Amino acid sequence: MQNTDGLILALETSCDECSASVVQHHAGRVRVLSNVIFSQIELHRKYGGVVPEVASRNHLEMLSPVVQEALENAKASFDTLSAIAVTQGPGLIGALLVGVSAAKAMAYARGLPLIAVNHLQGHLHSLFIEGQSACENLSAQNLPLLVCLVSGGHTSLYVVKGFPPNTLDAQKICESRDDAAGEAFDKSAKLLGLPYPGGILIDKLAKQGNKKAFAFPRPLKGKTLEFSFSGLKTAVATEIKKLGFEPHIWGNPDTAKLPQGQLLHDLCASVQEAIVDSLIEKMKLGLKQERAKGLAIVGGVSANSRLRERLSQEIKVPVFFPDLQYCTDNAAMIGAAAVFQQVRSEALSGDAMLKLNAFSG
Ligand code: KG4
Ligand code: ZN
Repeated sequence: MQNTDGLILALETSCDECSASVVQHHAGRVRVLSNVIFSQIELHRKYGGVVPEVASRNHLEMLSPVVQEALENAKASFDTLSAIAVTQGPGLIGALLVGVSAAKAMAYARGLPLIAVNHLQGHLHSLFIEGQSACENLSAQNLPLLVCLVSGGHTSLYVVKGFPPNTLDAQKICESRDDAAGEAFDKSAKLLGLPYPGGILIDKLAKQGNKKAFAFPRPLKGKTLEFSFSGLKTAVATEIKKLGFEPHIWGNPDTAKLPQGQLLHDLCASVQEAIVDSLIEKMKLGLKQERAKGLAIVGGVSANSRLRERLSQEIKVPVFFPDLQYCTDNAAMIGAAAVFQQVRSEALSGDAMLKLNAFSG
């Protein structure tokens, strides 16, 4: 009989955050005892995006100290754990391999069950971490719940009809035809000469900009639930050229050739408004179609302040967000999914855990 009330050590290495967390089931929610994140952003910045090989090598170097710190912060040890959880995919295959191999080794050596977690399930389960003010009132009364998962790699709508501790019954009803919203933020930022990852900087610079200064496209408006963001980067590059500047492609940005000051703020505000408009339009459509009684937004882009502001003004049903620390990639959300997987006895043990493979998705 597996211990399902104990502590779970969760690992997340699917992209450029090396993270470990110790979590515990507590009254239908997930208590986070520690959540250590080593961000590789500085390492990748000079390349203008994540370099998969650099990411894998850094995970290899950082995972042990990050795990050590997570155990120490939680006042836990391998002796007090009931299971190890790890992101199995989707993500960068080399980066995932580091986490999966480490988790297998720890679980096998310690005779602990191993829980394989889907990264997207991790983002969805970030809503069930306890102590988050904007999720506190989330309950079965909000079912069906529409969830928008919006990150650097994915932009999808899910309809949720059942909550943990039973299966988080989340059915994907649409996704982006091409780029993800976070990718659209990051690629537009790069063209404007802003460092990776540009989403958070666009959010910041847009605050002093005029969102109506430039009319960027809102594709597939009113036609379908699907998102499309790939045209935005072409529109941004074209606008930069029209203004007499050169879109930034590679290397150190030459500020003399790029928009600065108020013009840059206006471009950021207009790009952000185009992305936020598209997201909100599809969410409204999804809410109507599914007759949803609540809306939740998870993933890195759910940290965007303009998105949060507009949702609070325009959406009639209750809206739920994870705290900022649980929006971007972190191991606590992986632990949150693992807590309920363990309750449902979805853990591997013995030789089965050695057969676990990472998948890139
Ligand atoms: O969920 P996440 O950490 O990683 C993936 O699973 O992809 O999301 C990262 C994405 C990046 O594209 C980043 O630019 C975006 O989230 N992001 C933001 C903000 N904070 C992070 N985009 C817009 N506004 C923000 N405040
Ligand atoms: Zn993610």
